[in-house]
Amino acid sequence: MTTQSLQGRIALVTGGGSGIGRATCQVLEREGATVAVCDIKESAVRETVNLLKDPSKHLAVLTDVSNSESVESTISAIVDKYKSPPTLLVNSAGVTGIGPMKSFKEEAFSRCIDVNLKGTFLMCKAVANAMAKHKLNHGSFVNIASITGIMGLKDNSCYSGSKGGVIAFTKAASKELITDGIRVNSILPGPIESGMVSADNEIVQQAIRERTPIGRIGQPEEVAEVAAFLLSDKSSYMVGSSVEVTGGYIC
Ligand SMILES: NC(=O)c1ccc[n+]([C@@H]2O[C@H](COP(=O)([O-])OP(=O)(O)OC[C@H]3O[C@@H](n4cnc5c(N)ncnc54)[C@H](O)[C@@H]3O)[C@@H](O)[C@H]2O)c1
Repeated sequence: MTTQSLQGRIALVTGGGSGIGRATCQVLEREGATVAVCDIKESAVRETVNLLKDPSKHLAVLTDVSNSESVESTISAIVDKYKSPPTLLVNSAGVTGIGPMKSFKEEAFSRCIDVNLKGTFLMCKAVANAMAKHKLNHGSFVNIASITGIMGLKDNSCYSGSKGGVIAFTKAASKELITDGIRVNSILPGPIESGMVSADNEIVQQAIRERTPIGRIGQPEEVAEVAAFLLSDKSSYMVGSSVEVTGGYIC
């Protein structure tokens, strides 16, 4: 008999309406967690919940991670339904920021930072505070960053910068939150087939041919399995780490 590594735990997954976030919801359910699926796209959250084996057990929440009121009301909705805040968090909500830096629009830069970096901060803060309020001290947070955050991708300065921020934020926050019993780690994916990156896109095809030793694009499930591992006690000595899931990709 196989045991489920997240049995009885409540998980919040942002960006749960698509790609890596959706696959993570599915893997976490398989591992026994109850999942609050959060996304800015209402139809997408519902679709994800309906894809789960037992939809009635889980919760669909419309959330804008860049907005603190929306983040707080998401935590309230979870506490209302389960009488407990989540103790597992996956920050997968993200937006791209593609274009040469010299002509990149200020508003687009701000949006990229607001969703990718500030959204990660707001969620970590809200869940950590809710756990403290409920005297819970066994948690694990996973922030989906990107390999571009340490390597830098041409014509992606804004996106790379936001993800470099997520990696540094994760390392710093992990040193603080471990004293509350919460481990925080990040995952640095390479090219993964999702709403954000299509295998049909010629830039991606070229990157795969030239820069990915494994010779293919990654699948969302291959990131989700690592997220589930980092959330579980199997990774109990991992704190502040940045785990590369890239097929060997070099930016
Ligand atoms: N796909 C890749 O190649 C790749 C590589 C490295 C890192 N990542 C990161 O992985 C994460 C997941 O991306 P994906 O590839 O699954 O893309 P995706 O576009 O399929 O999923 C991203 C989800 O985030 C949601 N979202 C956007 N803004 C939001 C907001 N303000 N509040 C709540 N939800 C919001 C979107 O609606 C979407 O459902 C992102 O953080 C992305 O930067 C992806």
